[in-house]
Amino acid sequence: MTTLARAVQNLGRSGPVLREASASGNLRVLASLLGPAYRGLVMQEARGTQSTAMPAGHTAVFDWSYLRDRPQLTRLYEAAKSPEQRLRQRHDLLAWLLSQSLHGEQGALFAACQVTEAVPWLDAKLYGSSQVVDEGRHVEVFHGYLTRKLEKLYEINDNLYTIVDALMTDSRWDVKFLGMQIMIEGLALGAFGTFRQITGEPLLKQLLTRIITDEARHVHFGVLALQECLKGLTERERREREDWAFEVSLLLRNRFLAWEFYEEHWAHAFRRSEWERLSVESRLMGVFRKTMFKRIVPNLKRIGLLSPRIRPRYDALGLLAFEGGRAAPELTANDLLEDV
Ligand SMILES: [Fe+2]
Ligand SMILES: [Fe+2]
Repeated sequence: MTTLARAVQNLGRSGPVLREASASGNLRVLASLLGPAYRGLVMQEARGTQSTAMPAGHTAVFDWSYLRDRPQLTRLYEAAKSPEQRLRQRHDLLAWLLSQSLHGEQGALFAACQVTEAVPWLDAKLYGSSQVVDEGRHVEVFHGYLTRKLEKLYEINDNLYTIVDALMTDSRWDVKFLGMQIMIEGLALGAFGTFRQITGEPLLKQLLTRIITDEARHVHFGVLALQECLKGLTERERREREDWAFEVSLLLRNRFLAWEFYEEHWAHAFRRSEWERLSVESRLMGVFRKTMFKRIVPNLKRIGLLSPRIRPRYDALGLLAFEGGRAAPELTANDLLEDV
């Protein structure tokens, strides 16, 4: 059938539709529909073709003032784009958390080297040498995961840097040990356990399972060595370690305010003080922070650094809830993997 014959046939078939379309008697409406009706109903221009070119007869308006004065539309727009934003933020928050773990692992690698050299007992040196190898693997695996899988690496958080700097530059091996084996690694154990529970990503889950198993031994080593070492200190020296551990606890707590993440995603929307308030008061973050300390507080108690003198200060941070928990020597790696 020729195009003309098909058009005539279509015109006949469309008669009733065209009559309905003109039922309002409004000539302007009829005029506006005539062209489309001819192209759609008579010529059937969209049939059997991959594309159709349509002239758009409107005027395009450029807005050089970029004025946002439609709050309801703004809210709709924000709601429409937030799932994608939420995904990106979750990705970045994980990258931020794991980047800090990586930097902590590098600190652990160096601290383990230093302590292996400085500790006076041969058994501790031999064990320390195996920790050095473990920490090297941890650095490698976190770095690989961040650069190859998440493709994002954050700089070290200032609070974490302060702790690493303090223990690297302190000449007393027991202070290095306290900072790394009890505080940073204890916190890492709590953090890794929580990440492992909440992640649905099988590679990350497997990687964390292996690292937790190693870290459980490292913290255990720290408790055994420090228990013995701190017994030999004077009361003044013990008090100094106790206060030092409390200051480090504060720094560790502040590390989880995630400033680097805030600066990237929320600095345009909140003031820094507002972010800190939201973060400190947030119930979820509160639970998260306390879980981090679950592995630190019982160990501080075990090595004699949670005397009645310092307890009220931990209490004020809400961290005494964990003092009745089991210390590292009573926990196997399986306990740690099952109980978060
Ligand atoms: Fe490690
Ligand atoms: Fe470790």
